[in-house]
Amino acid sequence: MTIPLEKETHFTRRRYNRIAPVYDLMEGLVEKGKYARWRKNLWSRVRGPKVLEIGVGTGKNFEHHPANIDIVGVDLSEEMLARARQRAQHLQARIQLLQMDAQRLDFADETFDEVVATFVFCSVPDPVLGLSEALRVTKPGGRLLLLEHMLADQPLLARIMTCLDRPVHWITGVHIARRTVDNVVAAGWEIDSVAPLSFGAIFREIVAYKP
Ligand SMILES: C[S@@+](CC[C@H](N)C(=O)[O-])C[C@H]1O[C@@H](n2cnc3c(N)ncnc32)[C@H](O)[C@@H]1O
Repeated sequence: MTIPLEKETHFTRRRYNRIAPVYDLMEGLVEKGKYARWRKNLWSRVRGPKVLEIGVGTGKNFEHHPANIDIVGVDLSEEMLARARQRAQHLQARIQLLQMDAQRLDFADETFDEVVATFVFCSVPDPVLGLSEALRVTKPGGRLLLLEHMLADQPLLARIMTCLDRPVHWITGVHIARRTVDNVVAAGWEIDSVAPLSFGAIFREIVAYKP
């Protein structure tokens, strides 16, 4: 059964609004383990000068933002954004925060040099539409830098993830069985590099550019 995009987007926003108060707590262990290192590494490659961060969440990337770049951050969930605003104030981060749907970005074509997102396109209801919007607002030659979890390469693990995708999505708003590299290509990006970060290549760093 196909759920209309508007309904699915509303569902995702509600899920993240509900999770927002405990999001940082939930992610605490993995954050201290690997995520923080992966984030730092990704952001060390961001050059700007004008960057869009999609799905800023509670603002976990802010401490890794390079100095002297102009960053606009968007998110679908007002509750996640409220926490991001507090964090930005606390860190004195230079970022403009806006509530916006990645599938319908309110920016002119070719506005940004780079688009960055971490663990976002697993929950954007139509990821190819979101990634196409990211492409539209990026300047030619500009880059997309992603950290994402996706369907494992390993066949048994992939089968288990596919079976669990629906219940996990219902509870958390997250899809665990997406083929995000294929989605990036389907949206029109040229892949520069895909680096597996974990067992079964579930977590990957993807860098692509706009031809
Ligand atoms: C798993 S959280 C990741 C947050 C943050 N990037 C991080 O690394 O901690 C996914 C975020 O994507 C946001 N999101 C989901 N769908 C979105 C959409 N269509 N447009 C904008 N943000 C979206 C959610 O509200 C949530 O804050």
